[in-house]
Amino acid sequence: MTITIKTPEEITKMRIAGRLAADVLEMIEPHVKPGVSTDELNTLCHDYIVNVQQAIPAPLNYGRPPFPKSICTSINHQICHGIPSDKRLKKGDEINIDITVLKDGYHGDTSKMFSVGEPTIAGKRLAQVTQRCLYLGILQVKPGAKLSAIGKVIQAYAHSQNYSVVQEFCGHGIGAKFHEDPQVLHYYHADNDKIIMEPGMIFTIEPMINQGKRDIKLLPDQWTVVTKDHKLSAQWEHTVLVTDTGFEILTLRPEEEGWQERMVQ
Ligand code: MF3
Ligand code: CO
Ligand code: CO
Repeated sequence: MTITIKTPEEITKMRIAGRLAADVLEMIEPHVKPGVSTDELNTLCHDYIVNVQQAIPAPLNYGRPPFPKSICTSINHQICHGIPSDKRLKKGDEINIDITVLKDGYHGDTSKMFSVGEPTIAGKRLAQVTQRCLYLGILQVKPGAKLSAIGKVIQAYAHSQNYSVVQEFCGHGIGAKFHEDPQVLHYYHADNDKIIMEPGMIFTIEPMINQGKRDIKLLPDQWTVVTKDHKLSAQWEHTVLVTDTGFEILTLRPEEEGWQERMVQ
C-alpha cells in the first residue's frame, strides 16, 4: 500500500478540482425537481463540466464494465453507483448525485442528497443523520490521528440512530488517480488502526447509511448497488486534505458555511 503525500503544487491543483466538483452540485440543484429524468441531469452536468469547466467527468468509461454516464445518480433504496436513465424523479424521492471531476491531472470527488419536492419524514431524517456521519468523520482528521477514528465515530453515531453502515464500499485516497490508497472504512476495523494521518494526505469520506439492514445487492447492470431489503439508503461525500493542524474540505459548498457551529446542537 502506498499513500501519496501531495506536494504544495499538487494541493493547489486538488483545491481547484475540488472546487469544480462542488460547483457542479450547486449548478444542478435547481434542476432536481419532480419530472426531470436522471439522464437530463447527467447531460446538464456533463455539458457544464466539459464546456464551462473545461474538465473531464471522471466516471465516464471508468472501470469494468465501463461506467456509461458522467455522474452517478442513486435514488431511494439505491446505495451508490446508480446509472442515469430516462427514469423521472417524483415528489418524495431522495437522490444522491455523485460528481467526480478531473482537471489538470487531478480529481475532486463529492456527493450530496437532494430531496425531490417535499421530503418524507423518514427520507429527510436519514439524509440528515448521514450528513452528520460525514461531518463527524471529518472532525477526526488531523496529523497523528488513526484512520480508524473516522469509521469509529461514524459507526457509533449511525447505530445510535438505529441505522446500519454499508461495509462493502469505502472512502479512498484521491489525487492523480480516482481511487488511491488508503481505503477509508466507515466502520471500525483494526486495519485502519495502523494508518496514521499525515499532512498532505488527501482522501474522501463518503458514508453510506441504511435505514434497514446493511446488506447490499449488485444489479445485473454490474454497477447499481441497492439495499437487499429495499429500504432507504443515503450517502454524502467530501474530499478532505490533512493539514498541519487538522483538515481542509476541498469540496465544501457555500451552503455549508458554519457547519461546525451547527454541529454542537
Ligand atoms: N464517485 C464514486 C466514489 O465516490 C465512484 C464512482 S465510480 C463510477 O468513489 F464509475 F461509478 F463512476
Ligand atoms: Co469517492
Ligand atoms: Co464520489
